[in-house]
Amino acid sequence: MFEKLKARWNVNTTRLVLIIATFALGGSLCGYTGRKILLLTGLEKGVIWVLLYIILITLLWPLCVLLISIPLGQFAFFKKYIYRIGKKMTSHKKNNHPPTIKLAVFASGAGSNAEKIIAASKSYLNKNNDTDIAKQTTNWEVALIVCNKPGAGVLKIASNHGIPVLMIEKKRFDNGDNYLLELKKFKIDFIVLAGFLWKIPPALINEYPKKIINIHPALLPKYGGAGMYGSKVHEKVIAANEKESGITIHYVDELYDHGEIIFQAKCTVTDSDNAETLAKKIHVLEHAHYPVVINSLLQKQNDS
Ligand code: GAR
Repeated sequence: MFEKLKARWNVNTTRLVLIIATFALGGSLCGYTGRKILLLTGLEKGVIWVLLYIILITLLWPLCVLLISIPLGQFAFFKKYIYRIGKKMTSHKKNNHPPTIKLAVFASGAGSNAEKIIAASKSYLNKNNDTDIAKQTTNWEVALIVCNKPGAGVLKIASNHGIPVLMIEKKRFDNGDNYLLELKKFKIDFIVLAGFLWKIPPALINEYPKKIINIHPALLPKYGGAGMYGSKVHEKVIAANEKESGITIHYVDELYDHGEIIFQAKCTVTDSDNAETLAKKIHVLEHAHYPVVINSLLQKQNDS
């Protein structure tokens, strides 16, 4: 259970202990304060007392937990946690639909993966009506395409679907503000790399913890790292006489092709394969799996 919580909140053991301590101390402070306030009213213990007590502790709980989180160094965590609870409560009350998660797809190539992801987002959105809500609880959409290559095929795809494009420039991406303001302007919640070859700077990773994923056209940890992209990967796989290759979907960390693996799928490599034929097999796997993995990740993240 503790391992699950650590993964869900993306924290280490020490932080998990501090978070649990904050819940416990905040809860006790809330109960104590609630009782003290009711004592001042002079009310007898009874149904009204219990009702007032429940209302009071519901109102006091966020305040008490936030207060305790300050000395325990967990204010940032609880601020987000309480904000998310509030958001969930209000969105369910209003229309029974959770808010739509906004994705930015970073792509600088032909954009075939981006296109499949856009198509999938639309079909999931369409399915997510009141009758289907039990199956699909989270709506998501591609709200922005981020690209660093003028003329890339993905730009045409974005324009066909009426999706805004943010063109980025290397120096600013690596050093400056990493385009955070622009991503916030489009209210981006989750980032998907689909044929994007620049390393993601730490500031962006910190802003989107466990919310940036990449697809790599080989079975990591082999055939990854700087300079390993597209046909270069397939050439290496064939030169090494591998009998299998495949795709890896993983969280993005500060190293190339290195973060925690979420999903892999395999295909065979035959003697007659060359980089081009292998690329085709890999694309088939990518198109079949990437949108599905994205959807299930978003469902899980939103439920947690
Ligand atoms: C995909 O095969 C993806 O795995 C690869 O670029 C291709 C983009 O194709 N990514 C990398 O090599 C990252 N290291 P697409 O533009 O048609 O989606």
